Amino acid sequence: MSQAHATSEDLIELVDRIVSNHHTFTRAELSRLLGLAQEVASEHGATHAELLQLEDLVGQLAEDLLTHMDREERVLFPYIVALEASLHGAPRIHASFDSLKHPIGRMLRDHETARILLQSIRTITRDLRLPPDASVAQRALYDGVAALEVDLETHMHLESDELFVRALALEGRAA
Ligand SMILES: [Fe+2]
Ligand SMILES: [Fe+2]
Repeated sequence: MSQAHATSEDLIELVDRIVSNHHTFTRAELSRLLGLAQEVASEHGATHAELLQLEDLVGQLAEDLLTHMDREERVLFPYIVALEASLHGAPRIHASFDSLKHPIGRMLRDHETARILLQSIRTITRDLRLPPDASVAQRALYDGVAALEVDLETHMHLESDELFVRALALEGRAA
């Protein structure tokens, strides 16, 4: 993504880019990785206890992130989009919160929880190191977790450091 694109887009476009690039990918990958984690745990969990823990952690990550993205899409993002639109003449919408600081604070805590879960996955898998007898499914699972981790860093950076910061500034201007 070019700098020119990043700086010229408004918050409506930025929200759209986050949802269409990152939320769509994350939902699809969580579902696929959860299936792989369940398969690997049922086939090799009896001899590799860490794979049972891995299944739990991937399950928790999936549950947390799906709830988190739903909240962003149902509450926070529509409000940010309406805030941006109000600068172009659209009527302001009523929010269920006093300030964006509250929902944004919650989303930032969720991002930190996701990072902690990913760190736990790295700890129990010794940095996603595959054993010599790894199955095809385990290889696909570890590769997929690593790719999701990279995408999540970009995704959370776009929200925490760009969208949320710009939305708070906009809210200050619109007040
Ligand atoms: Fe998100
Ligand atoms: Fe988020």
